[in-house]
Amino acid sequence: MDPRLEAELDAHAGSDEELVERLFRLVLRRPPDDEARERALRKLAEGTLSRATLLYELAASPEHARVRELDDAVALGLGARARGERIRWLQAPATDERVVEVPWVLSRLVPSGRVLEVGYAFAEPAYLAGLLRSGVELVGVDLATRDVDGMETVRADVRALPLGDDSVDQALLVSTLEHVGADNAVYGIAAAEGTDGEPRLAALRELGRVLRPGGSLLVTVPLGEPKDYGWFRQEDERGWMRLFARAGLFVHELELYELTPEGWRASPDLDTAGVRYGDRGPAASAVLCAELLPGRTRRLLSAGGLRTVARRRARRAYRRARRRL
Ligand SMILES: C[S@@+](CC[C@H](N)C(=O)[O-])C[C@H]1O[C@@H](n2cnc3c(N)ncnc32)[C@H](O)[C@@H]1O
Repeated sequence: MDPRLEAELDAHAGSDEELVERLFRLVLRRPPDDEARERALRKLAEGTLSRATLLYELAASPEHARVRELDDAVALGLGARARGERIRWLQAPATDERVVEVPWVLSRLVPSGRVLEVGYAFAEPAYLAGLLRSGVELVGVDLATRDVDGMETVRADVRALPLGDDSVDQALLVSTLEHVGADNAVYGIAAAEGTDGEPRLAALRELGRVLRPGGSLLVTVPLGEPKDYGWFRQEDERGWMRLFARAGLFVHELELYELTPEGWRASPDLDTAGVRYGDRGPAASAVLCAELLPGRTRRLLSAGGLRTVARRRARRAYRRARRRL
């Protein structure tokens, strides 16, 4: 048969029920809700909606725009990782911070090994699908539960992980650190015990314990004027950096982004005074993305580390003095 005719007949094959189910899953990445299914089936049956127009309506909907934003973010991150590139100076559309955090993190995902995703239970399905496609061995940790095929899931507090020392190659915290020890009722979690002290510091130290030497921690957090919002706590750059340093984590890489009227843009000199969560868009107004390495600061503070730094400084001073002669 003529291939074009064959394709046209294919588009009309199967029942309307099958078509509606297939199109919703393909375009909106979810099954149709009862109301939408009933409406589409009724209109298809009475001839006031064609199969092509149903596809168009779904693809033109604001819901599909969000699907595209996240799909673009995942594709960008995994594509960069496949080329061995770390995404920097990213530009992303003016929506919530996931469109920056997701590609930033995915492009730095280790090529293989055991990866701990902290706070996976409410992660965007597109991000989880991207992680699952990446080929790493995934362990999800959260106070909440969610079954994810292909991912080992552990219900635990990130401050007390049921994992051995040096047992993880990389840990990911996408918009999660700021929630540790906060009021997590929004995630259906009763007030956690032991929220006194500095819960986020305890979380970072625990992650430092389970990370193997040479492993890394990818962290993305809301950035702005320091403020306790109840369900999370935002810090300015100094506040986050102080927390990383106190946890003994070396900042290997750091990028700051802010939401501008043109979309998300890198903003290395961002002044966070007056930058408040929710002021510029649906969620964070700025975000800090960092790769942290455990152990490096400790090595620096050891006698050997201090000697190395002193020698380097002496060499530089000697070179400067010679230039002056
Ligand atoms: C904003 S959501 C995380 C978003 C998600 N990572 C993403 O990629 O979109 C915060 C998550 O942190 C989890 N959480 C909060 N405190 C925790 C703790 N102490 N230990 C483990 N998970 C925690 C919550 O249950 C929730 O799933």
